[in-house]
Amino acid sequence: MRIAMTVNGGAVELDVPPFKRLLDVLREDLDLTGTKEGCGEGECGACTVLLDGEPLCACLVPVARCDGGEVVTVEGIMGSRGPDAMHPLQASMARLGASQCGICIPGMVVMGAHFVDAARREGRVPTEEEVRSAIAGNICRCTGYVKIVDAVLDAVQGGEV
Ligand code: FES
Ligand code: FES
Repeated sequence: MRIAMTVNGGAVELDVPPFKRLLDVLREDLDLTGTKEGCGEGECGACTVLLDGEPLCACLVPVARCDGGEVVTVEGIMGSRGPDAMHPLQASMARLGASQCGICIPGMVVMGAHFVDAARREGRVPTEEEVRSAIAGNICRCTGYVKIVDAVLDAVQGGEV
C-alpha cells in the first residue's frame, strides 16, 4: 500500500504492507531508531510518538492509519530545535539526572514534552499528581519517577525550579 504522511515535518511516501506496525516502519523503513520497542503490547510507552498531535503507542498502530497524517517522533522533538537547543524537558531531564538506563526515555520525552507544551501554552503549573497521571502509561524500571516528575515540573516552569 502506498502511504503518504508527514514525519517530523517532512513529507514521506513509501510502499509498505498496510498492517505493518508504525513502530517498525519508523525504525526499519525510515531509520528513525530513537523510538524504542519495550513490550510490543501497548503496556510500557517506550514507543510513544505523536500522531496528529496526540500521543500513542507506535507498536499498536498499523501504518495505514497514518496515511495523510502527521507523525512526530523523539527525533522530531529534538530536531525541531537543533542539537544545541533542546526541548525544555530534555534540558531539565539532563540537568536533574532524570535518565538512568535510558530505555524509557524516548517515549517519556515525547509524552512529557507534549504535556509540558500544553501546560506552557495554558500558562499554568500542573500539580505533581497531574504529571504522574500524564506519564502513567510510560513505565520506567529505573528511576522511581521522582526525578522524571521533577524534570517535567521544572520544564513547565522554564527550568527555574
Ligand atoms: S513497545 Fe509499545 S507500549 Fe511497549
Ligand atoms: S531510565 Fe531506565 S527504564 Fe527509565
